[in-house]
Amino acid sequence: MAIREILEVPDPRLKVVSEPVTAFDGELKTLVEDMFETMYAANGIGLAAIQVGVPRRVLVIDLQPDDPDAEPEVCDHGGHQHTHQPTKNEPRIFVNPEILDPAEDLVTYQEGCLSVPEIYADVDRPAACRVRWQDLEGNVHEEQMEGLMATCIQHEMDHLEGILFIDHLSRLKRQMALKKLQKLRQAA
Ligand code: NI
Repeated sequence: MAIREILEVPDPRLKVVSEPVTAFDGELKTLVEDMFETMYAANGIGLAAIQVGVPRRVLVIDLQPDDPDAEPEVCDHGGHQHTHQPTKNEPRIFVNPEILDPAEDLVTYQEGCLSVPEIYADVDRPAACRVRWQDLEGNVHEEQMEGLMATCIQHEMDHLEGILFIDHLSRLKRQMALKKLQKLRQAA
């Protein structure tokens, strides 16, 4: 496994439309492993392959990444003490994902993106959607997504079309966000 470089705005590769995966091979497995390692190292909850420069329709999501700085929780029940990590990984892999029927009602989440570091903004998206995807072996799955998972997968699927969350903002808000990012980079 290896941590790969995450592309950041205004890298033109982030605007590329990703191609479907046709080979469910070792290269795909390596890509997915590297994407997880890259995402966890950056404390992200989702990553699209194009964010590491690979224009393929592959997403990884983990809404419960381990917080490496978190103190283990000490539990005391049943007359004995034990410790455990407060969060547990829930890695999800989506190859060639499709959204089948987005809900009409919208929900607003404050979104961020590893390719637009330090910038957060409210985005409206369908509150729920049915998603069909393939796993690493090419098997097809379908599931109704709600809550943060619905928002996250729609955000990641946008990356496959070359769309960033800031593209959902008004022109003025997008310009303000990019200006803020520029200032943060200059200060770094
Ligand atoms: Ni993103």
